[in-house]
Amino acid sequence: MLREFSKKNILILPASNWVQCLYPADNSCVFMKKPSPRRISAKKQTTASTKPHHTVFENHFKSQEANLRKLYDELYHNHTLAVPNWELLVGTIRQAFHNRPSGFKIKDQSKTGSTPWYLSNTLVGMSLYVDRFSDNLQKLGDKLDYLKNLGVNVLHLMPLFESPDGESDGGYAVSDFRMVNPRFGSLDDLKVLIARMQEKDMYLMLDMVLNHTSDQHTWAQSTRAGDPYFMDYYYMFEDRTLPDQFESAMPEIFPESAPGNFTYLPDCKRWVMTVFHSYQWDLNFSNPRVLVEMLDHIFFYANLGVDILRIDAPAFIWKQPGTNCQNLPEAHTLLRLIHLALRLATPGMAMLGEAIVSSAEIMKYFGTGDYRARECDFAYNATLMALQWDALATGKTKVLRSAQKELIKKPLGTTWITYTRCHDDIGLGFSDEHIIVGGFDPSAHRSFLKDYYSGEYTGSPARGALFSVNPKTLDGRISGTLASLCGLEAALEMQAPAAISQAIDKIILMQGMQGHSIFIGGLPMLYYGDETGYLNDYAYLEDYSKNYDNRWMHRPIIDWNLNGRINIDGSPQQRIFTDTQRLLQIRRSMPVLTDFNNIEWLPDENIHVSGYVRHTENSKLFCLFNFGPYPVYLSWFVFKPMARERDILYDHWNHQQIVIGPDQQHIQIKGYGIVLAEWGADEGMKE
Ligand code: GLC
Repeated sequence: MLREFSKKNILILPASNWVQCLYPADNSCVFMKKPSPRRISAKKQTTASTKPHHTVFENHFKSQEANLRKLYDELYHNHTLAVPNWELLVGTIRQAFHNRPSGFKIKDQSKTGSTPWYLSNTLVGMSLYVDRFSDNLQKLGDKLDYLKNLGVNVLHLMPLFESPDGESDGGYAVSDFRMVNPRFGSLDDLKVLIARMQEKDMYLMLDMVLNHTSDQHTWAQSTRAGDPYFMDYYYMFEDRTLPDQFESAMPEIFPESAPGNFTYLPDCKRWVMTVFHSYQWDLNFSNPRVLVEMLDHIFFYANLGVDILRIDAPAFIWKQPGTNCQNLPEAHTLLRLIHLALRLATPGMAMLGEAIVSSAEIMKYFGTGDYRARECDFAYNATLMALQWDALATGKTKVLRSAQKELIKKPLGTTWITYTRCHDDIGLGFSDEHIIVGGFDPSAHRSFLKDYYSGEYTGSPARGALFSVNPKTLDGRISGTLASLCGLEAALEMQAPAAISQAIDKIILMQGMQGHSIFIGGLPMLYYGDETGYLNDYAYLEDYSKNYDNRWMHRPIIDWNLNGRINIDGSPQQRIFTDTQRLLQIRRSMPVLTDFNNIEWLPDENIHVSGYVRHTENSKLFCLFNFGPYPVYLSWFVFKPMARERDILYDHWNHQQIVIGPDQQHIQIKGYGIVLAEWGADEGMKE
């Protein structure tokens, strides 16, 4: 579509070759290469190529074939089946392009090129379990207006494809990658939902569980039946020699419920690698056939209309005895190869690597060296997520701030999924170094955090539980809903209005700190139920397929009568929902929040406060978060490096002007409060 734009609607993004062009009529935007002044004043613009799609594909393929081959050879040059599988791989990529519906090909053009659509401030996501949120896919279609009203336009639907009844790790044990689990509906229902979402300009994120299959998958069943062809799809061993070598260096993921990394199969007298649960068999990607098969499934999702592919557990996809079998260089090569294949055939689908690893390791998932910004388009900012919880428990932000030096090195053109809570536990895997900078002893500090959130620490209002405690190392992670961890469950039980109010402030701080997420740069991913303050659900204890996994306490079943309370003035649901909605509105209205690495941390003036500024050449948003219970006062020096001697800022959160300058000594932020102060706001931008 050809659209006109004027200088006023162009936002120059710093340190980048991009500009964001805004269309006030419908609040949409596109990204373009920084135009020359002549191009800015041009009346009509289009980014769409006029070449036929297949010519564009063929040219792109030719230009990248050697690179694809190089990545493939790095992994498989010694494999006896390298050549036939290379041909299959190329055929799979061509077929995927051929199968791609023409509407998606047109959309691909507007999403790619110089248009990294996924960096936009207009995107906000929510993760949800279809059955627990709305029963099934059909009914989810009727909830789209509720989600849009909240401000959500990206849906991460938790695993939808066939998995066994009973134990399935919440669907992360897939037994058929192409068949929608009848519990949710059918493939046709999914297609209808996607069409409804597209009509509403919503985007879809789905999982590709790449590391393993369910033991009920046909490959696993054929293996069990002794088929040697499929045995090579998994890591199978006749005796313990290699399993023991592996075990000596591999950590355990679920030490309580699934100790060890191998499971014995009495029927075929073999050991199979099962890093997660015994019913999740690790796929053997050193067999090139496995890569081709899984890539074909990935393309199937892309051609359904998936916008973001969440690659589950990519840190684990390559194994090598004697290593911890995580984050190995070959895992990165595999991801680069998949990323390139997607760019060639289905370029509108972005790739998210769900690696929950330390800040130093996570940066590698964006690509390094020649592959910088050519691996995952998205990664989870798990360090930030966990450190927000650290700051809330301690009331101090030094540990949180110390990790940012590393995290801001993220390559331009890639982005984060930022979040406060998700379906998994909160891990404390951030590095000791950050804790030491914060002035704490790492081991004592982690113990404190575990005690605080499991409610063991005297005076802690949190109601959570420890997940997967390793009796050997005493490592442990944390389960519990956002609201229960912030003290709402305890406060409601006590019927204490002041405690209820404080818990709600904490929830909003954490979402708003997700305001670190909503405002820090990246795609904020809310977690269903948090928008109305769901408390822990202890019903999982009655279900044998779930009672060993307390992550189910924060996977609520939505009661739509309860959600109706968002219309009752003063109810906790209404306060949390409307404040979350307001945070999202502020995000959407501010192009400066598009992620072009345009962030600067503000001087570390007050130990309770975390603050940064998001900036472009003509706009700045100062974001300040007080993690302590008491009001704090900041001097204007906090703003000085980024503002003029005397300035007037407009705080969109508290609807107030803030005057800064030498004769204005301080601004105040209330306990657990937020300030979102814009420099350069004109009258029209104020709500
Ligand atoms: C990912 C999922 C988690 C699951 C694991 C194994 O980390 O988020 O829920 O248990 O992978 O598939």
